[in-house]
Amino acid sequence: MKVLVVGGGGREHAIAWKLAQSPKVHKVFVAPGNAGTARDPRLSNLPVTDIDELADLAEREKVGLTVVGPEAPLAAGIVDVFRARGLRIFGPTRAAAQLESSKAFSKAFMQRHGIPTAAFEVFSNAAAAHLYVDQVGAPIVVKADGLAAGKGVVVATTLAEAHRAIDHMLGMGAQLPSADGQMARVVIEQVLEGEEASFIVISDGRQVLALATSQDHKRIGDGDTGPNTGGMGAYSPAPVVTPNVHARAMQDIILPTIHGMAREGTPFTGFLYAGLMIDRHGQPRTLEFNARLGDPETQPILMRLKSDLLDVLLHATAPLSSPSSSPESSTLDLLELQWDRRVALGVVMAAPGYPAEPRLGGVVTGLPAERDDAVVFHAGTRLGDEGQVLTSGGRVLCATALGDGVRQAQQRAYELLAPIQFDGAQYRRDIGHHAIKR
Ligand code: AMP
Ligand code: GLY
Repeated sequence: MKVLVVGGGGREHAIAWKLAQSPKVHKVFVAPGNAGTARDPRLSNLPVTDIDELADLAEREKVGLTVVGPEAPLAAGIVDVFRARGLRIFGPTRAAAQLESSKAFSKAFMQRHGIPTAAFEVFSNAAAAHLYVDQVGAPIVVKADGLAAGKGVVVATTLAEAHRAIDHMLGMGAQLPSADGQMARVVIEQVLEGEEASFIVISDGRQVLALATSQDHKRIGDGDTGPNTGGMGAYSPAPVVTPNVHARAMQDIILPTIHGMAREGTPFTGFLYAGLMIDRHGQPRTLEFNARLGDPETQPILMRLKSDLLDVLLHATAPLSSPSSSPESSTLDLLELQWDRRVALGVVMAAPGYPAEPRLGGVVTGLPAERDDAVVFHAGTRLGDEGQVLTSGGRVLCATALGDGVRQAQQRAYELLAPIQFDGAQYRRDIGHHAIKR
């Protein structure tokens, strides 16, 4: 089978790398891909990003399955377009992707279905938002409604910071329009305390198959300091997700979400990512939903997956045997995924100036050869005219390694990264620190 991976980040490099290992796959296209996917002889980059052109490509090349990495094409309706043309694709429809593309939608959905999340209010009027913040006080969280690549959230410790965030998101020069192109909106919510984890499942709209747990590092600086980023490193599994927390996350958050979306007529098919905040009592609450795999969580998760990813995704996109099949005829939840028992840990190297204003175009040198247990997944890279690797995005790559425990995985990931250089490279020195403290 030929497969197509849509996107060009570290997550997509990892998805393509994993799909290429399937004995049933003889061609993996990545559109548009990056320098890492360009240099892998098993993968072929195609410079296509337009949704109709991607569907043309899938048709022309007789692609058997398309897998969508990033949120933007999902929110723009790539799954609806492919399905209308009879093309098999794994991901949520535009309507279902609103769980990520509109925080106002996902918060209202959680409220309707009793899914634990922070108390909140939604505002499009800046004066009302300022008044509300003055009444409730700091600390408080201000979130832009639309997609903002992890940068539309301000956890304000002072009122002044909260007011500035509202002005930025709703003021005259608001830079972040909402998903539907309507009036900009902000969600203002209570600060939740605890430890974060990423809980990602595969769903066919009815049943759910959980992937291994993981934990991201959202802040730019060591010790979880400085501004939020798209994620500076991740490891899997996350020990904070004990069997008890896992059961609660499934019962209280994941299953009500999948069942609620189905009942509302917008079944969620694809990877569903719940960003959890787990309190002292082991109660998980939802910080956010993403309608896709996490980046960089995917890199360590897929490095641990032993099962054939193609088989799983074919199962999750299989048409029901007959139109009269009951919803229960899905058997996705009966699949058993095989995981490497080792810990996988990935460290992101980012461009200078990331996340505010990354400076791009640097030459990346010292990239090590790939091994079974240590891979440098590319993200913001492209090939230059002479075949050199150039930085082309804020997060440049993610050095990911397996080890017999989090300390060893950490040590190996940093060894893998050590020879890699580009001007102004920045990375955290403490990826995995929560798990090491335990
Ligand atoms: P989000 O994009 O909604 O996941 O927010 C990005 C990051 O902001 C999260 O990973 C958390 O670190 C932080 N955050 C978001 N909402 C809250 C909240 N209600 N309480 C505490 N931290 C939050
Ligand atoms: N690493 C966080 C995300 O993918 O949204």
